Amino acid sequence: MFKKIRSLVGRLFNENQQMIIVMQLSRFFWFLRKYFLAVEIKYPQEFLSNWSLIKNNSSQDMERNYTVYQVIKLHNEIFGGKKTNLIEFGVDRGGTLTTISKFVKDDSEIFALDSFGFFADEIKNNVTTQDPHYLGKYRPFTKETRFKNFNHIDLEKNLNEILLGKKSKLKLIKCYYPDKISDDDFSKINSIKYSFVHLDFDLYKPTLHAIRFVTRRLEKNAIILIDDYNLINQEGVKWAVRDSGINLNRCIQTQSGQLIFYT
Ligand SMILES: C[S@@+](CC[C@H](N)C(=O)[O-])C[C@H]1O[C@@H](n2cnc3c(N)ncnc32)[C@H](O)[C@@H]1O
Repeated sequence: MFKKIRSLVGRLFNENQQMIIVMQLSRFFWFLRKYFLAVEIKYPQEFLSNWSLIKNNSSQDMERNYTVYQVIKLHNEIFGGKKTNLIEFGVDRGGTLTTISKFVKDDSEIFALDSFGFFADEIKNNVTTQDPHYLGKYRPFTKETRFKNFNHIDLEKNLNEILLGKKSKLKLIKCYYPDKISDDDFSKINSIKYSFVHLDFDLYKPTLHAIRFVTRRLEKNAIILIDDYNLINQEGVKWAVRDSGINLNRCIQTQSGQLIFYT
């Protein structure tokens, strides 16, 4: 029932409006935690400053972004002093990618894949029955909606200015994953191993492919962070995790709906 109400809200408001509503509700919900559970989290100032800059370009709420921040810090402890690669599947307008780029350790190479509003037909045509929220007329991730006034080349340039100071770099890959990606880009991401993976495609098919792709290319002690695992309108993500055979006994489900897989 609630799933239907949530889907209806999704159809009444455009994607950007929905994100604002979800963020405000989430903020209120987590604020109540202090009064009902006596739990108060002191967020680091560097996290809060970053959040205030990215919140309008993120499809996450603050709690989920805080998980990204913390997992990146953990990753830095595990891999500090080593040159490693990180990969994000599902960039949107760069909310989580900004958090990753700002807080990642030195000597990191980041690859980040998204359609950036192109390939909207391919995405729509590959929605499966595991993704019921995306069936019907709703067309997600288009140039006219989410990516209006957005240019991924600018995002890459801005984040590389931050990364340069850390002897690190970012490559954005515009693609429809896994079917339409340039040979050069594919052979690059196929030839290296990863210390951190962020999976945020929302949909069953690309998520399953991405999990299968990365699990064969992980450094020892790598971390995979999967967004939306317990979000009720992104069921495709949970189906993809299940069908990939990931060992859930090596995972932590966060209260904010993500899944952390420690390999
Ligand atoms: C939820 S958003 C990512 C959110 C982002 N991590 C953030 O910080 O806000 C999901 C993204 O996945 C992309 N996407 C979904 N399926 C895709 C596919 N098969 N190939 C490439 N991009 C895809 C969409 O364009 C969209 O930007």
